[in-house]
Amino acid sequence: MGARPKITVVGAGNVGATAAQYAVERELGDVVLVDVIEGIPQGKALDLLQAGPVHRYDALLTGSNGYEETADSDIVVITAGLARKPGMTRDDLLFKNAEIVGGVVEQVVPRSPSAILILVTNPLDAMVQLAWKRSGFPSERVIGMAGVLDSARFRTFIARELNVSVENVTAFVLGGHGDTMVPLPRFSTVAGIPITELLTPERIQALVTRTANGGAEIVNFLKSGSAYYAPAAAAVEMVEAILKDKKKILPCAAYLDGQYRTRGLYVGVPVKLGRQGVEQIVEITLTAEEQAAFDKSAAAVRELVDKLKL
Ligand code: NAI
Ligand code: 2OP
Repeated sequence: MGARPKITVVGAGNVGATAAQYAVERELGDVVLVDVIEGIPQGKALDLLQAGPVHRYDALLTGSNGYEETADSDIVVITAGLARKPGMTRDDLLFKNAEIVGGVVEQVVPRSPSAILILVTNPLDAMVQLAWKRSGFPSERVIGMAGVLDSARFRTFIARELNVSVENVTAFVLGGHGDTMVPLPRFSTVAGIPITELLTPERIQALVTRTANGGAEIVNFLKSGSAYYAPAAAAVEMVEAILKDKKKILPCAAYLDGQYRTRGLYVGVPVKLGRQGVEQIVEITLTAEEQAAFDKSAAAVRELVDKLKL
């Protein structure tokens, strides 16, 4: 590996391998893929390396079942974990993935003490809180991916509804990743025009509901797994914003210390992402109704976090 930024992706499954692919296709850095399954990270890394001549990237890829190769990473994207299996409760998944993510963080942190961690594993908001606690890192260097995905889904549905380019559509989503997420229509725009000017409340509500169920809609199709192209794209947008110090405002799970009337908890809010990680939490004034929805979402996150007894 050379002078390019170093990106480690832990978990070489669907989201991890696709994130590695998108990252090298944009030549954001060299990538180390880590997984517990022997041969999988090595095979996928080599395969992606061999796509380089065709896709014209010189980024290097390495696969490993250990962490030596991850030393001095600039960014570590953590996708390691299980998806819910038949017979498994949400709590089973919570504790199992907490064990996995906790173990990953313990391996990563001593080798890359200056890295920025991006968490993807579900349940997202609880996993990022756990990773922050375990890492001992300042909260600006531990960030969760969910809002970029949720808002990309909302943007897609708005663009299809109005038959306009997705590039014209911005969308605003707050709160935890899950049923309680809080899309904010009055800050969601088409070429700067709030969608509340363009769509009826009923149509907006239908798009909001579809967004909140966006993950489940895909699981119902795939059956054996969950979404990964858009999730990987969302994680890589965060990687890019950080490595290129873009100061990009993106919705991410960030540590709130009083903002949005919430203290001591990771929840999705708009943040400014740059080379230092979360460089600012962007606070907006919510209506009473929006704040109530946010509070409800934060309470659902806190309930899960409390179970972890961090
Ligand atoms: P996957 O099953 O395809 O990949 C997970 C990988 O993690 C597997 O290859 C597995 O071997 C590996 N793994 C398990 N334990 C490990 C350990 N201790 N160390 C290293 N690797 C380990 O699953 P997929 O689709 O990639 O999803 C990964 C996670 O991301 C899931 O928890 C999923 O729910 C979550 N997710 C979160 C999203 C979000 O918006 N935050 C969106 C999409 C997925
Ligand atoms: C999603 O929203 C499973 O969290 C994942 O697709």
